[in-house]
Amino acid sequence: MTVLQTALDPTGPDHRAHRAAMLAKLAELEAEHAKALAGGGEKYVRRHRARGKLLARERIELLLDPDTPFLELSPLAAWGSDHPVGASLVTGIGVVEGVECLITANDPTVRGGASNPWSLKKALRANDIALANRLPCISLVESGGADLPSQKEIFIPGGAIFRDLTRLSAAGIPTIAVVFGNSTAGGAYVPGMSDHVIMVKERAKVFLGGPPLVKMATGEESDDESLGGAEMHARVSGLADHLAADEPDALRQARRVVARLNHRKAHPDPGPAQPPAHDPEELLGVVPDDLKTPFDPREVIARIVDGSDFDEFKPLYGTSLVTGWAALHGYPVGILANAQGVLFSAESQKAAQFIQLANQRDIPLLFLHNTTGYMVGKEYEQGGIIKHGAMMINAVSNSRVPHLSVLMGASYGAGHYGMCGRAYDPRFLFAWPSAKSAVMGPQQLAGVLSIVARQSAAAKGQPYDEDADAALRAMVEQQIESESLPLFLSGRLYDDGVIDPRDTRTVLGLCLSAVHSAPYEGARGGFGVFRM
Ligand code: COA
Repeated sequence: MTVLQTALDPTGPDHRAHRAAMLAKLAELEAEHAKALAGGGEKYVRRHRARGKLLARERIELLLDPDTPFLELSPLAAWGSDHPVGASLVTGIGVVEGVECLITANDPTVRGGASNPWSLKKALRANDIALANRLPCISLVESGGADLPSQKEIFIPGGAIFRDLTRLSAAGIPTIAVVFGNSTAGGAYVPGMSDHVIMVKERAKVFLGGPPLVKMATGEESDDESLGGAEMHARVSGLADHLAADEPDALRQARRVVARLNHRKAHPDPGPAQPPAHDPEELLGVVPDDLKTPFDPREVIARIVDGSDFDEFKPLYGTSLVTGWAALHGYPVGILANAQGVLFSAESQKAAQFIQLANQRDIPLLFLHNTTGYMVGKEYEQGGIIKHGAMMINAVSNSRVPHLSVLMGASYGAGHYGMCGRAYDPRFLFAWPSAKSAVMGPQQLAGVLSIVARQSAAAKGQPYDEDADAALRAMVEQQIESESLPLFLSGRLYDDGVIDPRDTRTVLGLCLSAVHSAPYEGARGGFGVFRM
């Protein structure tokens, strides 16, 4: 065994200060999560309950196997926008009749469960996860369809929701719709495109056009039940496969459908694993509040991998990137973790080689971010930093083993790309509350803008207004800082959620389990041209 040692002193002043700062950020995060949980607020929740209906998360809870976890995804979607936090949709991964499923549930307490641009992004992300990991997809439907005031943002791209459902089905991934209420117009295609459909008696309303629209279009007089009620669809149109007496009955029937899917994971569960030798609670004190102060990512690895057992690869070469092999909840992983922040040529080459090795051995990769990006400057440009960074980005882009990313601290510039940032399609990407991500640091960005403006004024022979420059720099710094914070980025769906560092092992374990539902094989070749 190669068990990592620790140099952390949990009683020391540094650790206590880092921990205090992290706890303050977690309290802020908790308050934002509470907004998502509150849905449309007390008034709408009370009205919903008075109608004898279950809330979105209560429906999910009844659907899942008792005492099993639910990995909720993107709970902060729409944060910082004009729409309520959570985007009127709950998505996540949970176990139904022993089968890991991707579950989506409209929150009807938020504007009738209507989909706004952020709900759409969140739903499409959920579909991507279901497809990549071959997870059966269960939609718990009750929605007013498109959020009408923002229809221009969603009508055209929104068609992808129905396209995805049928593509999942075509790929042999089961899709199940359970309809609890309104599912009209485009929404009718959610049950319409699903493999299995359950509707709740006297509650489900599934029609292309409701009675007023029909009256306008054809003059026909009709009512909700005869146009789109559950009884009608179960007995007459055949759109419903199962008629449920009430909501709990619908969820019970959904569980029976899953039990009969014969859906098998590509890789068996590895069985019980050894916990880390070091206490995950101490993860709260690893990352300094000021990200300019470096920290040793081995202290993180020691608290998330099985038995804290880590076999480091090339420990003496390119030391600002730590690479090595471990297991996490029994699954083998290759880990790339930034140490001193900057990526040099040696680190980039080491990363490219390590990623190729993981592909040869079919081992998933975990990227732990704390990077300010690739090194700049004459010496480094002349040393080929572009070629070497490109090698790493090439390796990440064309690697075919599953990738997981966790933003622990900084994730700036092309370093975010090389470390498998969002655009490089990691299967899952989570951020710690301490993370920051942007094209560069706020001070550097404001400074660059100022130099450019100064040069432009000089070129035109104009005097440079130093007071205006100082004010502009301060404003830009503040703006970039706020745009680099995890709540803001999570609101825009640039991650799958902001997590408590102490939960990292559990979250990654759930992700690795989901990842192993689908078969995968590393790239044996198929990389782009590596510039040497
Ligand atoms: N877009 C924007 N806002 C919507 C909406 C939509 N599609 N559907 C509902 N809302 C809003 C309502 O205006 C209301 O806002 P308010 O409380 O500030 O007045 C709030 O959401 C709750 O709606 P309400 O009608 O009171 O809730 P309900 O539970 O009684 O009924 C619906 C829900 C979905 C059945 C009903 O609102 C409805 O029929 N909406 C329109 C459905 C539609 O035709 N959508 C277009 C499909 S493409």
